[in-house]
Amino acid sequence: MKGNVTEFTHPLIMHKISLIRDKNCGTREFRTVIGEIATLMGYEILRDLETELVEIETPMEKAMVPMIKGKKLAVVPILRAGLGMVDGILSLVPTAKVGHVGMYRDEETLQPKEYYCKLPEDIDQRLVLIVDPMLATGGSADAAIEFVKKQGAKQIKFASIIAAPEGIKMLTEKHPDIQIYCGSIDRQLNENGYILPGLGDAGDRIFGTK
Ligand code: PRP
Ligand code: URA
Repeated sequence: MKGNVTEFTHPLIMHKISLIRDKNCGTREFRTVIGEIATLMGYEILRDLETELVEIETPMEKAMVPMIKGKKLAVVPILRAGLGMVDGILSLVPTAKVGHVGMYRDEETLQPKEYYCKLPEDIDQRLVLIVDPMLATGGSADAAIEFVKKQGAKQIKFASIIAAPEGIKMLTEKHPDIQIYCGSIDRQLNENGYILPGLGDAGDRIFGTK
């Protein structure tokens, strides 16, 4: 971890990221593996969820056992590609609420355009985990974080599978209060704002639209 940025080095995460970088990885495998990576990352990202002791009865006796405390988690995918990570996180915390932030990058200006936003009402009481497989210039993540903050969220984490140094720089400067998790920090952006070596357009690869 460097400052508030964590890059995962678990061999399973690294291996699975290598699988989806391959241009010959088809839509079905791509979608499946994105979900698996989200679960593996989520396991680590959620290691500081608060617990409290609750009394239960085992078949042997009463016992005080740790359970996740109070209002828990809201997963907020940035549409479209973030949707690919939601089920992987929900497999760990099935009771989490899900919000949506619809955002696409204008291909000319690379500026994010917002088209749909809906969050759980009690967002201020939840840990908010914003997910998007790609953090490139950082414009989309920044806009999503600003929106979630404006809606009252106090504890926010951001997770991407592949990040560019440019996006990390933007987020750490603009949102020093947020923890950022990446499966891999890649080399750089190209002139069109795509990550190198990257994996191409994550939304198109998850949904098979190109
Ligand atoms: C991709 C990706 C991020 C964004 C990252 O989405 O899923 O949301 O680009 O780029 P940035 O850091 O420069 O903002 P895209 O705009 O292609 O939309 P899509 O998911 O609907 O395909
Ligand atoms: N969005 C993507 O889907 N891929 C990139 O490399 C950059 C932005």
